[in-house]
Amino acid sequence: MDAMTSSPTPDRYAVAGNPVAHSRSPAIHAMFAAQTGQAVAYGRLLCPLDAFVPTVQAFAHDGAKGCNVTVPFKLEAFELAQRRSERAELAQAANVLRFDTEGGWLADNTDGIGLVLDITANAGVSLKGARVLLLGAGGASAGVLGPILEQGPREVVLANRTVEKAQAIVARHAALARQHGVSLRACGLDAPGEGFDVFINGTAASLAGAGVPVGPQVLKPGCLALDMMYGPAAQGFLEWARLHGAVPRDGLGMLVEQAAEAFAIWRGVRPDTAPVLAAIRAEIDAAHAAASAQPKA
Ligand code: ATR
Repeated sequence: MDAMTSSPTPDRYAVAGNPVAHSRSPAIHAMFAAQTGQAVAYGRLLCPLDAFVPTVQAFAHDGAKGCNVTVPFKLEAFELAQRRSERAELAQAANVLRFDTEGGWLADNTDGIGLVLDITANAGVSLKGARVLLLGAGGASAGVLGPILEQGPREVVLANRTVEKAQAIVARHAALARQHGVSLRACGLDAPGEGFDVFINGTAASLAGAGVPVGPQVLKPGCLALDMMYGPAAQGFLEWARLHGAVPRDGLGMLVEQAAEAFAIWRGVRPDTAPVLAAIRAEIDAAHAAASAQPKA
């Protein structure tokens, strides 16, 4: 092979959202591409709030192969595609689009499998037979409930400030819960129950700096307490969990695992996530240390 043909033009992908400036996805996918030898170029696609669809269509028209979709467009992405995976149907949201030219675009949702893999493979905690409390009824929680149920936990409680939203998601997942023998119920934040083996925060409370919206009685000593946020937004939750005897975990592992699943959907090869998670965590820790070392004005 001569030099002209040895480096194929990379296939283009991006993370589409608003905002996207701080997204770690380009760095993660660059590492996946290097590791697997795939010719992939992955960037950021900032979409105006009222123009997600034309922005993504223009990107595809320009030859791009697919995109990840982040806040606040996961529902629009789901509606835009001609074909949808079962897990995207259950979530009613998509974080992955593949711009297939035959058969139409495919929408998928890899958030839930990403979270499950982070809990079971990376944190080493089995969900089989576990009692799980999932907080929040936005797109984040809706996206992960199905894959959690498929692990066969004993009980899943979906607690949300607006209980009707939790009830709607539970109704949509009732058949799947029955199929896997899981007791699934919705409730408000006032009576979520206590002593859970796994506590997952999928609310935006951390982002709003509002603290953890339930009391520490939800934690069983030594349980896993995971916030889907990472970086500075997750710090309050992680400290709260540690203080109350839980094993704290942020959402960085979930981010890397959902990205690996998206990469596999696009490229047919699944990267090894461990070195990528370690590298991204080191980058974030270094940025945090540098920010803390800044003299305060
Ligand atoms: P996403 O799609 O990222 O999950 P979302 O749809 O805005 O975002 O959902 C945010 C979730 O965080 C909701 O469950 C919301 O509760 P409501 O359904 O009652 O609005 C929850 N949330 C946000 N701020 C909160 C707070 N301060 N305390 C408790 N729950 C909060």
